[in-house]
Amino acid sequence: MKILVIGGGAREHALCWTLHKSERVTEVVCAPGNGGIAAVARCVPVDATSLVDMLQVADQERPDLVVVGPEIPLSLGIVDALTARGIRVFGPTKAAARLETSKAFAKAFMQRWKIPTATYAVCESIEQVGRALADFAPRVVVKADGLAAGKGVVLAETHAEALIAAREMFDGALLGSIVASVVIEEMLQGPEISFFAVCDGAKALTLAVAQDHKRIGEGDTGPNTGGMGAYSTDDLLSAEMTAWVLEHVAQRVVDGMKSEGSPFVGVLFVGLMMTPSGAKVLEFNTRFGDPETEAILVRLETDLVEILEAAVDGVISEVEICLRLGAGVSVIAASAGYPGRYSSGKVVTGLDKVPRNVEVFHAGTLLIGQELRTSGGRVLAVTAAGENLDEALESVYTALSGIVFEGMQYRRDIGWRARGAKKNS
Ligand code: AMP
Ligand code: GLY
Repeated sequence: MKILVIGGGAREHALCWTLHKSERVTEVVCAPGNGGIAAVARCVPVDATSLVDMLQVADQERPDLVVVGPEIPLSLGIVDALTARGIRVFGPTKAAARLETSKAFAKAFMQRWKIPTATYAVCESIEQVGRALADFAPRVVVKADGLAAGKGVVLAETHAEALIAAREMFDGALLGSIVASVVIEEMLQGPEISFFAVCDGAKALTLAVAQDHKRIGEGDTGPNTGGMGAYSTDDLLSAEMTAWVLEHVAQRVVDGMKSEGSPFVGVLFVGLMMTPSGAKVLEFNTRFGDPETEAILVRLETDLVEILEAAVDGVISEVEICLRLGAGVSVIAASAGYPGRYSSGKVVTGLDKVPRNVEVFHAGTLLIGQELRTSGGRVLAVTAAGENLDEALESVYTALSGIVFEGMQYRRDIGWRARGAKKNS
């Protein structure tokens, strides 16, 4: 079968690489893809923010299955439009993707379906924010409603700080465009976990648990990024806790969305905080996470096509997802300056020396003739599986030490929480 993957980052590279290995797949097409994806898929140019453009590619290619990577196409309704054309697609409809595209929707949904989350208030003016804050302890989180690529969340130590953040969201100073509503939340404490379930509209099945490192700096300091590294291990979450999250969060989401008339098909990515009073949902994403997906897919033993098709066909319970025991790790090599203004067009070398057990997924590269050049803030996701976390980390960092581009930066402490916990026990 022929599969079309929408997107052009390291997550899509990992998806194309995995699909390319399946015996069921004859051709992988990626729109727009990137310089590295071209090794495992035929890349076709597309503007992944234009629905018309993406549909044109789908009409031309007539794939047997489409897999959507990023959130923007989902928010534009690509799944609805492809389904209407009779093209099978893995991903949520525009209505189901509201779990990610609207924080106000997600919070109200969680309240309706008794899914544990931080207490909150939705405010449409600065006056409302002022009144709402009276019900909260001094430390709150202020979130812009809508997609903001990780930049729409401010952790405020005081109500005064929260008011400033909310004002800057309303007047456009923070995000460059005005927001219609903001969500104020109680600030939770605890380690964060990303839980992934594959859903078929009626049932949710656990795919994996992973941990992301969102900050640019070691020790989780400095500004937020799109993700600087991730790991997935067998023991990140106990079997009991994993089963609990599946039942009390993921399956409740699927049940709730179905009974509200927007069945959820696709990957449900639950961002959780493990607080002293139990696991609470920070956010939902309605797609594969990046870079968690890279760290998970190198461990996947089950044919990904089988999983995606079962979800689209409404028979996910017929599938058993098997991950290789041990760990998967993905570390991002980023351009100088990222997540602020960064430089591009730097020559990347050393990829030919990467050991065979390491996969280099490309996040932002361009192939110019024979030369690979940087073309994004995040450039490479260097990824490996291992018998355990230390072994996977060793493989990744050894590979990284041989890769060169001017200004390359990466975090040397991916997995530090898990490794620290082991050392202290
Ligand atoms: P979100 O986009 O909602 O996941 O928020 C981005 C990040 O902000 C999360 O990964 C957390 O680190 C942090 N965050 C969000 N909500 C809360 C909360 N209620 N309490 C503490 N931290 C939060
Ligand atoms: N890793 C976070 C995200 O994909 O949004």
